[in-house]
Amino acid sequence: MSRTISLAVIPGDGIGQEVTAEANRVLDAVLSGSDVRLDRTEFKLGAERLLADGQTLPEAEFEQLKGFDAILFGAVGGVPGDERLRDANIERGLLLKLRFAFDHYANVRPTTLFPGVTSTLADPGEVDFVIVREGTEGPYVGNGGRLRADTPHEVATEVSVNTAFGVERIVRYAFEMAAGRPAQKLTWVHKTNVLVHAGAVWQRVVEAVAAEYPGVAVDYMHIDAATIHMVQQPSRFDVIVTDNLFGDILTDLAGAVGGGIGLAASGNINPDGAFPSMFEPVHGSAPDIAGQQKADPTASILSAAIMLDHLGLAPEAERVRAAVRADLVTRGGEPRTTRAISDAIIAQLA
Ligand code: IPM
Ligand code: MN
Repeated sequence: MSRTISLAVIPGDGIGQEVTAEANRVLDAVLSGSDVRLDRTEFKLGAERLLADGQTLPEAEFEQLKGFDAILFGAVGGVPGDERLRDANIERGLLLKLRFAFDHYANVRPTTLFPGVTSTLADPGEVDFVIVREGTEGPYVGNGGRLRADTPHEVATEVSVNTAFGVERIVRYAFEMAAGRPAQKLTWVHKTNVLVHAGAVWQRVVEAVAAEYPGVAVDYMHIDAATIHMVQQPSRFDVIVTDNLFGDILTDLAGAVGGGIGLAASGNINPDGAFPSMFEPVHGSAPDIAGQQKADPTASILSAAIMLDHLGLAPEAERVRAAVRADLVTRGGEPRTTRAISDAIIAQLA
């Protein structure tokens, strides 16, 4: 039985366009000869689009996106200092809009230091962990405002929202993941000594869910301490679960530990499948190197592998990761172009 998967592609801006093109080539290569077909629709969204017609995410396109099986996302953002984008907030209007509206509560960001890859750390040891970042709550919700704006008496609030429902579903997702991994270890990260209200909800929920997973060893760290452990002994981590903002910061650090942001992949996952999940490299649009074939497409390719997993194509996902792994071992010497890297990964697939 052949299967057609509808895929929305949002390459976005800058290197987002280059790396997404290569991820799509790798997807075609890994699916060639199989009975799975990708039916792609490209959406031109991002800074370029905004500058062209003033639109960030028109209602019609937003509605259309709901109907896809998955979304492959590149990166968005214009050139820093571009006055025309000064008041635009493409991150909120597009990326976060999709994460929130499509209920991407599981923001999954694996870090593996592949053989042959040089970590930022001198002696990293074994690095193979996954950060499960809550994606729909915390300080990201936009709950707050400014009073007496632009006066010396201005008051700004940015209220972090933590619901028992939202915390429980992400904690449960992380426990489920930890239970399926050999190390069976879960570290929850917060700042319970200071953020006592949110911290209490997280603690209560983690303790309750932990009781259902006796095989999973549970450990707690404050976010500040977690950054130390991540650089001193990343091998102690297996699955980490944390809130939206802590997860944002910690995953950039994890990217550096895992050999650089050019390798850091992610999935914005709606586990219930009510809306399409979205897969994107953790890096941004890097306007400084855009259009020069300097970007590493590996993060985007590994994000496509997470997508394959999510779509029930685990063997294909594993083939992509194996090809990336094989390519990384042979890297070194002259830097290669974006296209050359994906060519090499495609060659490894064969
Ligand atoms: C990320 C990014 C986004 C975030 C920005 C672009 C809104 O930094 O995906 O980590 O903060 O989540
Ligand atoms: Mn980030």
